[in-house]
Amino acid sequence: MEIIRSVEEMQAKIKTIKAEQKSLGFVPTMGYLHSGHKSLIDKARIENEFVVVSIFVNPTQFGPNEDMEKYPRNESGDFELCDNAGCDIVFIPTAEDMYRKNYNTFVDVYGLTEGLCGASRPIHFRGVCTVVLKLFNIIKPDKAYFGQKDAQQLGVIKRMVLDLNLDVNIIGCPIVREPDGLAMSSRNTYLSQNERSQALVLSKALKKAQQMLDCGETNVLTLKEEMVKIIDSVPTSIIDYVEFVDNLTLKPLAQVKGEVLIALAVKIGKTRLIDNMVVVK
Ligand code: PAJ
Repeated sequence: MEIIRSVEEMQAKIKTIKAEQKSLGFVPTMGYLHSGHKSLIDKARIENEFVVVSIFVNPTQFGPNEDMEKYPRNESGDFELCDNAGCDIVFIPTAEDMYRKNYNTFVDVYGLTEGLCGASRPIHFRGVCTVVLKLFNIIKPDKAYFGQKDAQQLGVIKRMVLDLNLDVNIIGCPIVREPDGLAMSSRNTYLSQNERSQALVLSKALKKAQQMLDCGETNVLTLKEEMVKIIDSVPTSIIDYVEFVDNLTLKPLAQVKGEVLIALAVKIGKTRLIDNMVVVK
């Protein structure tokens, strides 16, 4: 496995891969890789002749009071995971190389980014779209792999690809969970032992909604109320949102009908966690 740290070197390498007409799978990440990331790399490995993973803690997607500085990092562990998963290149650029002096271009996807995580993280998706488009331009993948864990991000990226006629196939991959139900996340490392068990309220609330839906309940207010009760049972939890939205438009719904994304963001102590589930009624 090759490790490339400069944009210029990466672009030169991609030219040779393209000249060989190899199908190219790409998995963008911010590192501190876990089995959720690995599931994306595994899928990319199966579906492509060449696999690139990027590791870049992207400054433009973090707000001023967010965890950019303390975002967990583990370069050697990440390289080992990528190597074991059969990745061909890890691209790990610096912020200075990705955002050169006088950098001034950003991508805004409207309509899908104002609600859910966008409400409390107003510049987040602008940063995500900008860096993902830059990475697509550098790496020129045939297929790019994104987790359903970040459901809004996946929807926004799909919209950007359609709207800007990008020649890449976006592949959504299911959420990988710990055995007890907690959705895997690099940020889970922030949780104390006590918070780690309290964090289970996110997946428990989703399970409760599933049970109620199975029993025929489709009223969003009633469903939300029960989910909120479960989350509020944990004293350190602060709800950012519990939302039922159309899975395509991400617009809020009053009734569960069609393909519905049930998404939530909750702070456990100081750690903001997200989880979601898609249901079809
Ligand atoms: P990061 O949080 O590192 O996640 C990289 C990819 O892994 C995303 O597509 C995310 O949805 C996926 N992922 C994370 N946890 C997962 C889980 N438990 N199951 C399945 N997939 C999971 O998302 C980002 O980085 C950044 O915003 C990025 C797209 C790299 C742009 O900077």
